[in-house]
Amino acid sequence: MPRPKLGIMSLYLNDRKTIEERTLFKRMTIAGHSLGLDVMVFTPEDIQASDAIQAQVYDIQAKCWRRVRSGFPDAILDRCRYQPTKRFKQLKAFRQQYPQLLYLNKPLANKWGIHLDFKDSNSLAKYQPATVKVSSGSEVITMLKKHSTVYLKPINGTGGRGILRVNRLSPTSFQLAGRGMDRRILRKMRLGRTGLLVKLGRIAQAGNYLAQQGIDCTLPDGRVYDFRILIQKNARGSWEWTGGAGRIGRSGSVTSNLHGGGTAASLDRLLRKCYRQSAKEQRVKEEMSALAFEAAAYLEKRYGQLCELALDIAADRSGRIWLLEVNPKPAREVFRKIGEYHTYQKAVRRPLEYALYLINRKKG
Ligand SMILES: Nc1ncnc2c1ncn2[C@@H]1O[C@H](COP(=O)(O)OP(=O)(O)OP(=O)(O)O)[C@@H](O)[C@H]1O
Ligand SMILES: [Mg+2]
Repeated sequence: MPRPKLGIMSLYLNDRKTIEERTLFKRMTIAGHSLGLDVMVFTPEDIQASDAIQAQVYDIQAKCWRRVRSGFPDAILDRCRYQPTKRFKQLKAFRQQYPQLLYLNKPLANKWGIHLDFKDSNSLAKYQPATVKVSSGSEVITMLKKHSTVYLKPINGTGGRGILRVNRLSPTSFQLAGRGMDRRILRKMRLGRTGLLVKLGRIAQAGNYLAQQGIDCTLPDGRVYDFRILIQKNARGSWEWTGGAGRIGRSGSVTSNLHGGGTAASLDRLLRKCYRQSAKEQRVKEEMSALAFEAAAYLEKRYGQLCELALDIAADRSGRIWLLEVNPKPAREVFRKIGEYHTYQKAVRRPLEYALYLINRKKG
């Protein structure tokens, strides 16, 4: 009997056919091998016929990647990130052409769509910071009357790209800080109302930005922080806590993302630093965990099956928690960075165990 096969679906980043996350895929191949699951990586561009894919596989013995012509996999893990190119359209076409394949995870909407989803929920809406889709600069100025900080985020953004923060210094004076689309930190600017309106006008015109109430998550040294919680489906097909971590932005950054130079911190240690009260720490942690499971169940009802979900959560000084973002295709690096190798390995292995569970169930 051939071994079951998992196809990790990705997208090329350019015409040289570069793919992201090779290290993760290599580790998944090695973990899959010991579980009795073969792993291959492919992109929709690699489909040659309805039964053949020019896939890439990691050769564990030779320690290198090879091109291998393969049949279709028994299950698919989607790791495709949004890109504004024809490749994203090919991905949509692939899903339409092959709806009968076994997908571990269904795609979610962009940040705005997800915000609207949660807004519909009686129990989850309260965790969301106030958010609007930016259609004019004056709308953001109105928001700044109520909230002293507002974040501006591209609807399809990832990795902290293009995220800006506006602080109200006085009713007529503002500070603008953030990152460009290339993630580079922008020079902080002090602007009057008119100057800010000019900048915001450009963003409004682009038509793809959100403005969101800023949550005050700054350490005494001025660095911003937030929390990352990862839950995954296990070998029995049910959701389980995998791990949590904190992320502290680099000095001068308005985002905590590791790719933007942030540092990873253990969940408990960062909670201790923030609250210095074990009862509060424990309550915040429990609430973050409950929010993760509830958000996952809610999203699955709307979008179909998921296999993992990471939440970016802000916890303010009072201990109130806020959902900044959900990530259905999360990185796991944060656990390695805090030295939780066991959690990291679990995070790599669980989607494979879940894939085996689904494949076996389908075979009956
Ligand atoms: N409303 C907010 N209040 C405070 N901080 C925020 C807010 N929104 C975003 N941030 C900061 O910016 C970071 C990036 O935001 P977000 O997760 O929404 O964008 P992203 O670019 O999709 O990130 P990634 O893809 O890396 O998860 C957060 O981790 C947090 O540090
Ligand atoms: Mg995020």
